[in-house]
Amino acid sequence: MIQKWRSALREVANLAGYELQTEYESEIVTRIVQDILSKLMYEHLHVDEKLVGMDFRLKRLNSLISVDSKDVRMVGIYGIGGIGKTTITKVFYNQNSHQFQSSSFLANIREIFKENRGLLRLQKKLLRDAQVLGVNEKLTTFDEGINMIKSRLCHKKVLVVLDDADHWSQLKSLVGKRDWFGEGSKIIITTRNKHLLIEHEMDELYEPPMLNTNEALDLFSEYAFRRNHRHDDYPSLSNRIIYYCQGLPFALKVLGSSLFSKTHGQWKSELDKLALEPNMDIINVLRISYEGLSNTQKNIFLDIACFFKGEYKDFVIKILDGCGFFAESGIGVLNDRCLVTILDRKLWMHDLIQQLGWEIVREQGYTNIGRRSRLWNFVDVQHMLIKKTVLFMHTYICYNFSVFMLVYVYYAFLILHSYFLGNKCN
Ligand SMILES: Nc1ncnc2c1ncn2[C@@H]1O[C@H](COP(=O)(O)OP(=O)(O)O)[C@@H](O)[C@H]1O
Ligand SMILES: [Mg+2]
Repeated sequence: MIQKWRSALREVANLAGYELQTEYESEIVTRIVQDILSKLMYEHLHVDEKLVGMDFRLKRLNSLISVDSKDVRMVGIYGIGGIGKTTITKVFYNQNSHQFQSSSFLANIREIFKENRGLLRLQKKLLRDAQVLGVNEKLTTFDEGINMIKSRLCHKKVLVVLDDADHWSQLKSLVGKRDWFGEGSKIIITTRNKHLLIEHEMDELYEPPMLNTNEALDLFSEYAFRRNHRHDDYPSLSNRIIYYCQGLPFALKVLGSSLFSKTHGQWKSELDKLALEPNMDIINVLRISYEGLSNTQKNIFLDIACFFKGEYKDFVIKILDGCGFFAESGIGVLNDRCLVTILDRKLWMHDLIQQLGWEIVREQGYTNIGRRSRLWNFVDVQHMLIKKTVLFMHTYICYNFSVFMLVYVYYAFLILHSYFLGNKCN
């Protein structure tokens, strides 16, 4: 017992305390209280309870971030929408934020940035979370915000997360340089655009992998069958869904929830429908990456989705350059946004991303196929060919018929004319 007391007292004596130098006692007490509060009441972010494959992903992220290291480290997480960037980051944040003097999770940057003075609001939140902005203190310009972040956080060990960034100015005005932050600080940025991270010279990059088949089946079953893990009743149907989602957690969750408590027949009809019409909740999450592209890049994306998936990149570039698309650079951008991947010099895309491309083209003319910029399936092409041929024949026949009628009337006129003329002469 005495031994225990001794070692406990020794440990306490070795703890580095607060030094009271020129500060007033009241000030240091406030500082101590704030410090303890930040340790006890750190923000706990909500994450789904049903997570799969998280340990493996977190392990990788932990090794890249290395919380115990003394350097200020910036780590970027990128990937398509719904792959789990925000979720992994939240779990990491919940597990590690107590190891920092302060922490700030700036969620939905892309959305807030679009709002009036959105960036200023984000700067304020960062300063408030770090407890370095007084309640009555005002922030009127970005530059003022940058100066405050630099001068007030440079001695603090902070954990800052920028979630779903999509513009360089967000990074420049919130986490511009490493020396803005104190020793051991860690900055995490999640985005759909890898190029943003390269431009900002991150120390490490991480693309979370898709769920493997077992993880996907676990996640899907959690939502489709809830407590009763009955996927044995629907094995082939479950497998079709797993194949359709190709390991995208968001898609598995959406489809699993939508099939919960449905009958075997309903499952089958939903699945048949999916082959023709994609689930719009999923498509709309993926569409965000498409919307940030220029017109030429959009055209390249649609051409790859409709015609060139699995083709050699060089071959596709030659064809697309013929259309004036600057394909080499365009495909680079699509790759940065995880819309296209290059494997063995061939172009690939996730099946759901391809469905997004098809859906965008379909939207150009849902009922009128002729309005669509691209036709890729046999039935549509056949339909159009028949329609055009019929139209052509119709025009041809009408045209010829009218010419025939004119000639006929002309000859009739001539005959009658000569007849009357002949009669007159006689
Ligand atoms: N490993 C996982 N296990 C279970 N659900 C997950 C997993 N990763 C993501 N999800 C779920 O998928 C959805 C999308 O994840 P999110 O992290 O928002 O994707 P992103 O930020 O890449 O767009 C969320 O509802 C989340 O709960
Ligand atoms: Mg996200």
